[in-house]
Formats: sequence, C-alpha cells, structure tokens
Amino acid sequence: MQIRVSSGTPLKLKTPCLIIGVHESARPAPGELELDTHLPGAITRAFRDHEFRGKKGEKLLLHTPDLPAERVLLLGLGPARAQSLDLRRELAGAAAFLQERKLRACTLDLASLPLRQLTLGALAQLAGEAILLAGYRFSRYRTEKSDGVDSKPLQLTLCVPRRDQIKEAATGAAAAEAICRGVFLARDLVNEPGNAKSPEELARRARVLAEETGLDCTILDRRELEEEGFGALLGVAQGSVREPRLIVLHYRGAEETEPPIALVGKGVVFDAGGISLKPAEKMDEMKMDMAGGAAVLGTLAAAARLRLPVNLVGLVPAVENLPSGSAIRPGDILTSLSGKTIEVLNTDAEGRLILADTLTYAKRFAPRALIDLATLTGACIIALGHEASAVLGNHDGLVQALRNAGERCGERLWPLPLWEEHGKLLKSEVADLKNTAGRPAGTITAAAFLQVFAEGCPWAHLDIAGTAWEGKGAPGRPPGGTGVGVRLLVEYLRENPRLGKK
Ligand code: BES
Ligand code: MN
Ligand code: ZN
Repeated sequence: MQIRVSSGTPLKLKTPCLIIGVHESARPAPGELELDTHLPGAITRAFRDHEFRGKKGEKLLLHTPDLPAERVLLLGLGPARAQSLDLRRELAGAAAFLQERKLRACTLDLASLPLRQLTLGALAQLAGEAILLAGYRFSRYRTEKSDGVDSKPLQLTLCVPRRDQIKEAATGAAAAEAICRGVFLARDLVNEPGNAKSPEELARRARVLAEETGLDCTILDRRELEEEGFGALLGVAQGSVREPRLIVLHYRGAEETEPPIALVGKGVVFDAGGISLKPAEKMDEMKMDMAGGAAVLGTLAAAARLRLPVNLVGLVPAVENLPSGSAIRPGDILTSLSGKTIEVLNTDAEGRLILADTLTYAKRFAPRALIDLATLTGACIIALGHEASAVLGNHDGLVQALRNAGERCGERLWPLPLWEEHGKLLKSEVADLKNTAGRPAGTITAAAFLQVFAEGCPWAHLDIAGTAWEGKGAPGRPPGGTGVGVRLLVEYLRENPRLGKK
C-alpha cells in the first residue's frame, strides 16, 4: 500500500499521471499557465472553449509528450471555499477515473490542493485516504479477476514543494495507510458472505489480527457466556447451530492506571430476523449486520499500528439470528447479564439484546467512555438516509466530540434526541422492559433501550444502518461494506478529549 512522498516541482517528475487540483474560475491560475507553456496552450484553450473550468467533477486528461510526466490530469475542485469532504470526493473520483483507464501509478501535486485550514500532514493524510479507499475491491471470490476495473490499487506518490516538507507529509501518509488498513479489514469482514463468517470464524480472525498487531485477545465461548449469565445474547444465538462468541480485545497504549475507552460493535453475522422473519427482498444484505463489530476490530488494529497513547477495550458480540425449532419466540422473556428481564416482542430487534449484555460486561473494565456502533435500525435509514450515522447518548460532551471528529474525517454524524419519554415507551406488562416500542422513533427507542444498560457510564451510540453498506457503488465508493466507523473512531481517539461531567 506504501504511499511515496517526493519534493520539488511536479513538472520535473516522471510519472504515468500527474494530478493537479484546479479551482473553478473563468481562466487558468498562474501555476496552471506555467504548465500551459509546456503543453503548449492546451489549458488556455480548454478554459476558453468551456471544456474545463475547474468545476466539481470535471476532469481533463492531457497527454504530455514534452514533460517527464506521461499525462496530466486536471481535476476540478469547485469553488475556492470547498470543504474537506468535497476534496475527498473529488480525489476519490480521480482515483476511480484513473483506475478505469488501467493506470497503475500517479503523482498528486499537494501544493495544488487548497485547504489552507489543514496542516500539510493532515492534507497528506486526507489525500492518501481518499485515493487508497477509492481503490478497494472485494475480489476474493472472483476466479476471473478482470471485470473492467483493475483490482490492483494505484501506486500513489505525493509531491510537496520543498525537501523540508517531506517528513510531515510522510507522517500524514503513514497515518493514512494505517487507517486504511483498518478500513479494509472492516470492509473485507462485512463483504464476506454469511457462510464464511460464523461467530467462531469471526473470533478466529480477531485472534489472527491480535497476533499481527500486538493486541491481547480473549474469546468467550457459549459455555463461558452461560456461566456468566449472558441471557439476552444467548437468547438471540439459540436459533442458530453456529454457536456465539464474545470477542474481547485490549490495546494498551497508555499507563496501566489510565481507564480505557470501551468500543462495542454489533456482530450479527447474519440477521434473518429470527421467528419474526424478514422479507426475502434484499435479505442477502443482512450479512452486513456485523459492520459495527468489524469497525471495532479495524479501529483497534489501526490504533495499535499508530501507537495511539490510549487504552482501549474492544468488544464484539458475535451471533447469528435465524429462525428454527430452537429459536426464541415473540413473547419470550430473557434474563440479561444485568439481571433485568426483557420481553422479546420482536425477534428481529436482536441487536439491542446482544448489545445490552455486552454493554453491561463492558462496564467491568471501568471505562471512561463507552461507545457502541451498530447497524441497529431500519428507521435510521428513513431518518438520515445514507449520508450520516445517527448519534445518541447520555453525555453531551462525548456526543459533541464524536461529531467534531466526524466533521474532520468526513464520516458524518447527526444527533437525535433521547428523552425520558422515549424510555417510558419500553415499559413491559410482564418484564422489566420490552425490546421494541413499534415504529415511531425507532432509532431513538432502540437507543433508549441501550441506555438502560449503559447507565452509570458516559456513553454514546452510533446507528450505522444507513452508512455501513454501499448498494450500487459510486465513483470512489466501491459497492459493499464501507468500513464506516474506523476513520471516525481513530480521529476521535487521536484527539482523545478528556470528558467533563456531562
Ligand atoms: N439489522 C437490522 C437493522 C437494519 C435494517 C440494518 C436495514 C441495516 C439495514 C435490525 O436488527 C432490525 O432488524 N431492526 C428492526 C427493529 C424493529 C423490529 C423494532 C428494524 O429496523 O426493522
Ligand atoms: Mn434484526
Ligand atoms: Zn440486526
């Protein structure tokens, strides 16, 4: 994956393709005019003839026999006040464009990218991420590898003007690589079909990852979960012949005395809905119901590779939700690890059941913050679509810090309220609470359910149902698992804010 960094004027660089960012304007900027003299006049003519003016999404690919670079790609970035998210999108679009043309390598002129509010290191990281992430394909099960899109990622070189800038850019590029490896791991796991990822197999992969990256790994099997009293988790798991596991990973990057941050990710390897069976249409996509768990694994791996100065506990309850003669029924009552009893009105609201027990368990590590990620509710897609994950919690400072991290890294979060009244909707006639309150405010009532089990700890919940999966695929957004959550959490952890009381 190795991103290279070089310094000097990009016009002297030998590369199959030099990418230059261009802002929207009526005529070429001075830097572009200098390039124009080597072309000769091609850029001026393209502007004059309205073929290229630097608008978002515009690309002009020029062959450049008089330059060391074989080609130059002028990349439209839109208006000069463009946001970092726009820049990520355009760079991803450029990567997709070059890969469609089977180019193997490119050099990006970092000085042509405008974001003055970013340090050079942050800009190098942003560019590296955007281009690497766009090049991802899940081709493990293709016996014929060529499908028009080259599956080999682009070899990226970042070019900075001065030698003394190389170090900072290289540090940013190295961060991008570590983070993208975490994202790719999460995408790979999400994209694996259900038959290839039993809870046991997911646990095995976690153990391999732990070995590779120096994490501590403990796996609780069914017997141990029974002994501990994970009644809600085991209730979900009992419909499948594939036994559940609880994956527990530790990353120790700070003093032993420093309380950890606990990350919990929903790990339903396939969600058929159980006896409350889902409709057949698109049920295949429910292999992605472990995307929260995948994000936790990817984040711990990235944190370890980046040597972040924090302590982390990663917890992934891995189960399968199937209908069968041994499955839980609507109306069944389960006793959770917390001791609270739960009436299961809908077996398809299984995520909150396994998370309830895992949140309870997470509190044993006395975390200073507890963050869960889950593809929890279809209602979240209705509320926010696919552009943002929902964030809810019991601690405003934590929610705000996560939102800020989301803005910086381009994985947006949007808040929903969590009021006492929502919690009241979960009252049951026969048990301490019921697992659904019907359709109204579905994302909120799911979070209100979790809140009961996170009680006593600063906690935030991210509903990633709308962001974890890319259906059709778009330029720079390969179809399948997105790996959402990894970049967000790493960004949050790098900032590592100390939380106040509320
Ligand atoms: N895994 C689903 C939520 C989901 C739906 C994620 C679509 C991604 C795309 C979850 O387990 C579920 O089935 N939730 C139910 C809850 C309902 C029964 C209260 C839902 O959203 O319909
Ligand atoms: Mn479900
Ligand atoms: Zn589910």
